[in-house]
Amino acid sequence: MKIGVLGSGIMGNGIAQVFATAGYEVTVVDINEEVLHKAKETIEKSLGKLSKKQDIQVDEVLNRLIFKTDRTSLKDRDLVIEAITENIEAKKEVFKELDEICNQKTILASNTSSLSISEMAAVTNRPDRVCGLHFFNPVPLMKLVEIVGTKQTSTETLAIVEELIGSINKESIRVTDTPLFVVNRLLVPMLSEAIFLVEEGTATVKDIDKGMQLGASHPIGPLWLADMIGLDTLLYIQEALYNKTGDSKYKVPALLRDMVEAGNLGRKTGKGFYEYK
Ligand code: CAA
Repeated sequence: MKIGVLGSGIMGNGIAQVFATAGYEVTVVDINEEVLHKAKETIEKSLGKLSKKQDIQVDEVLNRLIFKTDRTSLKDRDLVIEAITENIEAKKEVFKELDEICNQKTILASNTSSLSISEMAAVTNRPDRVCGLHFFNPVPLMKLVEIVGTKQTSTETLAIVEELIGSINKESIRVTDTPLFVVNRLLVPMLSEAIFLVEEGTATVKDIDKGMQLGASHPIGPLWLADMIGLDTLLYIQEALYNKTGDSKYKVPALLRDMVEAGNLGRKTGKGFYEYK
């Protein structure tokens, strides 16, 4: 199977890496050479680390990756995974374009963590071959992929992607197209609650994280994780949950909005709940 990945940010480059590592030829598309270069560097760095622990031929993996700036390079792919920014209008535009560019048999998937797959499928002429493939950050290390089926996704499509995910050495769970699916529905309210605790001055950032690491055996604390996900992404996700459910229990912390407005987006900008040098 030939794989395409549209968008080469944190998630897109990780997705491209895991497919190429498993032996698939992957075309990665993004808007300019500079972002693609950065994605390639990130992949090389990650493969370098993994090759010390696993039997990975870094050069061979890199040779299976093709970096392009034009979306038409995705036309011969059997599966295209969209991993652009979390914006439904932008995603709908991409799905419409991919539907026109790609072969009628190509499966179109989105890595969205918060937006409706059904809405994306609706702008295509192949809703039976549209699904969600929700990977977790950092993609090379996290074992899970949520497979999101809409009411129109065919059982054949779901079976193909399920087998594919198994072939890249990941586990999957099947979920319906509901706000935040399963993992984030449980995870995001916890991150939000941790931010409320900071806002209220209940404990320090470090102590809140230490609490969950040592008191609940989480590998990293919620605020460290929020910085890792990116506070802008987290804000998008939280707003999506609140707006879609209308449930006041999902209220977005003011502190999160303030930090995003100030440009403190977490690890990627060097400052969030922690400072990174
Ligand atoms: N590629 C390759 N190797 C990597 C890597 C990457 N991207 N990131 C870390 N590593 C390696 C490190 O080099 C290190 O290797 P050694 O043990 O050989 O030194 C090893 O992984 C452990 O890394 P660290 O010591 O830096 O950190 P850690 O022990 O905390 O482990 C982790 C890292 C596995 C990511 C762990 O922190 C963890 O499981 N965190 C939780 C992640 C999580 O919850 N992700 C979900 C986020 S939510 C999401 O993604 C969904 C969404 O839609 C927003």
